[in-house]
Amino acid sequence: MKNTVTLIATAAMGLEAVVANEVRQLGYKDATVENGKVIFEADHDAIARCNLWLRTADRVKLLIGEFEARTYDELFEGTKALPWEQYIPEDGKFPVTGKSHKSTLYSVPDCQSIVKKAIVEKLKQKYGIANWLEESGSEHKIEAALLKDKVTITLDTSGAGLHKRGYRVGQGDAPLKETLAAALVQLTNWRVDEPFFDLFCGSGTIPIEAALIGQNIAPGFNRSFSAEEWTFINSSIWDKALEEAEDLANYDQPLAIYGSDLDPKMINIARDNAMEAGLADLVQWKQMNAADFHSKEDVGYIVSNPPYGERIGDKKEVEAIYQKLGAVLKDYPAWSKYILTANENFEALFGQKASKKRKLFNAFIKTDYYQYFGKKSK
Ligand SMILES: C[S@@+](CC[C@H](N)C(=O)[O-])C[C@H]1O[C@@H](n2cnc3c(N)ncnc32)[C@H](O)[C@@H]1O
Repeated sequence: MKNTVTLIATAAMGLEAVVANEVRQLGYKDATVENGKVIFEADHDAIARCNLWLRTADRVKLLIGEFEARTYDELFEGTKALPWEQYIPEDGKFPVTGKSHKSTLYSVPDCQSIVKKAIVEKLKQKYGIANWLEESGSEHKIEAALLKDKVTITLDTSGAGLHKRGYRVGQGDAPLKETLAAALVQLTNWRVDEPFFDLFCGSGTIPIEAALIGQNIAPGFNRSFSAEEWTFINSSIWDKALEEAEDLANYDQPLAIYGSDLDPKMINIARDNAMEAGLADLVQWKQMNAADFHSKEDVGYIVSNPPYGERIGDKKEVEAIYQKLGAVLKDYPAWSKYILTANENFEALFGQKASKKRKLFNAFIKTDYYQYFGKKSK
């Protein structure tokens, strides 16, 4: 097998550039950005390193092959021609999922079963098996994605999505995905020695992600990944990547990260989550109305995901929260403020035009990230 692999870090819509930036920072400079994905060549080590370190990607997939298919025959033959025996052992489990967009072969269930059949046939031939394959061993999740008649076949190296860091023991009604929370932090100019506040912290996702970034803790340090079970990958890549993560973590970095929320139940949940993340008392939690915010610091960062008022009846209440927030934060012109909301009238309610806006999706909700740049501390 080749030493290099082509990896695809999948990204939520709007986060591709952020994911690409992370990929490049890990040392994989020639990353190409497409809709929803970042593609790059790397050695096997990258499978472990990317799963462990990428804070904003959804998954890391391994490209098995690409070809054109307009008929089921072409799909079958194209799939069968790939060297499946290099990836899937005799007892390997390999569920197949699919998607199809703007393609002649539009029936996803049919495409999935053709791909499955082609792989089964190839493996039976290669392993000399007459009957069925047991599929009792390690799992190799396969995806066949058709776009404009081009088939892209990948193996999912991550397993559970990378947002599942393993620290979320509790949550509220509208938790942010950990990957999006990390992106919100990365899209700021916050330096780890500056004060950082989330005034609507809910279950604590933004402050927890900020603390992990602040101490350079790999977000995947406390979880496992599908590819750890794969025999075609030398298991030493995982030990090496974990050792590297341990070396690079800066547990002595002091942080001034604060999370507050009106709801005392959320504060308890946030504290439990932070504890689970191994952050103990690194983040300071407090029950507080955002309207009561005050600080003696000259500069700092506020990064928040307040309620959006999507539900009927909540709208007026949320508008009042934005107005009060704008009024209180007027006294902190040197502070940087970053607010994610779906409310299109946010700037008017907050009373100030944002320095910059960025479109992002919070799950399926179209939101804007309103960015108000303050002064840098010296
Ligand atoms: C969208 S949720 C935040 C979710 C959070 N980012 C997470 O990942 O769990 C909004 C939060 O704002 C809180 N909240 C509502 N009104 C508030 C106010 N006036 N001051 C502070 N927090 C408030 C709610 O209790 C809720 O936890």
